[in-house]
Amino acid sequence: MRLFNTVLKIMASSSILLFIFFEANAQNVKAGTEWILFNKGWRFNLGDVPFPEIRGHDHSYMNAKAGQAGGAAAPDYKDSSWTILNLPHDWAIDRPIDASANLSQGFRKRGIGWYRKQFKLDSADRGKNLELQFEGIATHATIWLNGSVLHRNWCGYTSSYIDITAFAKYGNAVNTIVVRVDADAQEGWWYEGAGIYRDTWLVKRSAVHVITDGVYANPVKLTSSGNQWLIPGAVTLQNSGKEKVQALVQMSLWDAAGKLVDKSENKILVPALDSTSVLIKLQANQPLLWSVNHPELYKVKTIVKVNGLQTDSLWTSCGFRTIRFDADSGFYLNDKRLKIKGVCNHHDHAGVGVAMPVSIAEFRLRKLKEMGVNAYRCAHHPPSVEFLNLCDRLGIMVMDENRNFNSSPEYLRQLQWMVRRDRNHPSIILWSVFNEEPMQGTEQGYEMVRRMNHEVKKLDLTRPVTAAMNGGFFEPFNVSKAVDLVGFNYQVASYDKFHKENPTLSMTSSEDVSGFMTRGAYKTDTSKHILDAYDTQYAKWGTSHRTGWKMIAERPFVAGAFVWTGFDYHGEPSPFGWPSASSFFGAMDICGFPKTAFYLHQAQWVEDKSILHLVPEWNWPVDSIGKNIKVMALSNAESIKLFLNGKLFAEQKADKYEMNTWQVPYQPGKLMAVGYVKGKEVSRYVVETTGTAVQIKLTPDRLSLKGDGLDAMPITVQVVDARGRAVPDAQHKIKFELTGSGAIIGLGNGDPNSHEPEKGNERSLFNGLAQLIVQTQESCIAGSITVIARAEGMKAAKLVIPVKAGVSCK
Ligand code: GAL
Repeated sequence: MRLFNTVLKIMASSSILLFIFFEANAQNVKAGTEWILFNKGWRFNLGDVPFPEIRGHDHSYMNAKAGQAGGAAAPDYKDSSWTILNLPHDWAIDRPIDASANLSQGFRKRGIGWYRKQFKLDSADRGKNLELQFEGIATHATIWLNGSVLHRNWCGYTSSYIDITAFAKYGNAVNTIVVRVDADAQEGWWYEGAGIYRDTWLVKRSAVHVITDGVYANPVKLTSSGNQWLIPGAVTLQNSGKEKVQALVQMSLWDAAGKLVDKSENKILVPALDSTSVLIKLQANQPLLWSVNHPELYKVKTIVKVNGLQTDSLWTSCGFRTIRFDADSGFYLNDKRLKIKGVCNHHDHAGVGVAMPVSIAEFRLRKLKEMGVNAYRCAHHPPSVEFLNLCDRLGIMVMDENRNFNSSPEYLRQLQWMVRRDRNHPSIILWSVFNEEPMQGTEQGYEMVRRMNHEVKKLDLTRPVTAAMNGGFFEPFNVSKAVDLVGFNYQVASYDKFHKENPTLSMTSSEDVSGFMTRGAYKTDTSKHILDAYDTQYAKWGTSHRTGWKMIAERPFVAGAFVWTGFDYHGEPSPFGWPSASSFFGAMDICGFPKTAFYLHQAQWVEDKSILHLVPEWNWPVDSIGKNIKVMALSNAESIKLFLNGKLFAEQKADKYEMNTWQVPYQPGKLMAVGYVKGKEVSRYVVETTGTAVQIKLTPDRLSLKGDGLDAMPITVQVVDARGRAVPDAQHKIKFELTGSGAIIGLGNGDPNSHEPEKGNERSLFNGLAQLIVQTQESCIAGSITVIARAEGMKAAKLVIPVKAGVSCK
């Protein structure tokens, strides 16, 4: 950490030296060059298509030649019987839950699949630079174009950028991309999905262009006082033309209102078939700072000109903020102390698996913000670009995590890719090189991390490198000595000892809690794989949510929390096995419906508004009348009064860590809590016994959708009594019918034990709730989606969602 601070000081005092450290590249806002979303019209075959056996001289000879791939990789392979589909695609989520499949992967078979796509290129594209991009393929991918193998990617979370210029055919000739995906390969112990599950792009650029992730524009504060900033900009150009050229690169900084802040330019010689970087300084005086409450973003425009003609231009988003970790007092954002209130998450959701539309990712991040979360650990793999853009925009700090712990060349390449792609995002405050590695307390582990940290520093000096350790902290050789910030996974009993023995090392929890809850269930029944939602159940290496936060909140030297997890996810159904198929760890279930832990953290973490929530719901069977029911209030008030059917039942001083509980003899009716601060009422929450369900209710997450074929939203499904009150213990099976310009793309209900399909048009409520996810079709005229929901004995519900035109048609 001292080294890191020193480097920051060096950077602040010498911009010349700074340039030595900064190489080019970065995440870009997609604009300028022609970015063609290449998601549509792929042919897909589930199952392997074995290559023909190679026999005899002629066959062997030709098989060894460029452009001569055989079997399903051959351009002329007959694929007409294959399914036609659009990406992103996760074939595992379509498959049934199957006892013979791996528990970690949610008991869903993965297997092998093939994709093919044919396309033509305009003759006018000749001379351009063409790049094919796959943002994420689970898990091992081999990619061919026109019969030549172009790329192999053996990490399901890193993108592939493939220069196809030399292989491309123009005019009437057909180009054929083939991707073989081996999803039997596993990189995790959680659900990883299967297939081309993130966006795919064809990028057409001029011969002299900025390479992908080729703009580095991460602002650095110049002085400790005042508000003077430097963007040590670096741009990497490539020239696929035949002659060397002199390029002029212009960079300009713009604020959110579109006002120019600074501009500068520089010239560079770009040899043919080579790439080179140019450095350009931009300055800003008194910019608006990026923070979790005010995530101010700026944009950098990069223009490339050759002989006065523009050959490339693109926008890169960035933010002005400082970060600092202190060994005694934790984390500082813009020099203000901020306790990290983070959650860890994988990247799947009910119904859609890992092929998650951006709008669903946004829905999830908004739910986390509502819970009081200010940080997100991408456990244990890099997220999508769109996800990071959302975190920048919504003000959520990110621990960006590398998947594979290895310092050999191929794995360093994966780490470099992550840092190059992501280093302009103001949301990213930490790079994590691993999670819980058995070598963490060994000389080999130490040496590997030392190398990985060094590799990160070559690309970004502004963020600390951490590793999520769950042991080895006190070994003579251990990874804590090779990182800038020590990450603790659990091991809460070692916080004080470690800090005492290593007073100069900064530390954070990188993972904590691992509590178990079934949403809406208040009695543990292990025979039925149900775990109560009173925060009494947790993994043996973890703690309750309440203890976990108390341990961190009371220790200023622990920078913050990263609760395992914000949402349930498919797979890892600990502490159970079959038939449970998804996890119990989330503060929310897999649909994003809050569990008690959501309200608990809200009470602990939200500071700017009054929080009060009661569990359980107040619908108990008649034989419970007179029997004690445990009632828990989740609140940030100072004291709470509890009223049963209008009569004061009890008053308690609120306990901000433990929360408040009572044993209340059950009487149907109304249970009400009132929260007070300084003797004044600040909050009120009521749970009421409902009547029987008579009607279905559909609640959309937003008022309208965009008809771009991408926009999606969850619709909450409930049943209500005659007075319109949602019935919390309802388990009805609901059937859906959708008409209009969209489709149902997934279903869920948050029950980790459910084996109902996540695709189709019916789903049971689980403890009163289910979720339907709808997505629009591309349309150039405004329209609507109509959903009708029906269940036996229930009045149907009809929901009409307006769909705005998503594309303009001539
Ligand atoms: C941790 C691990 C996580 C998850 C969690 C469950 O040790 O890092 O990936 O498995 O345990 O408690």
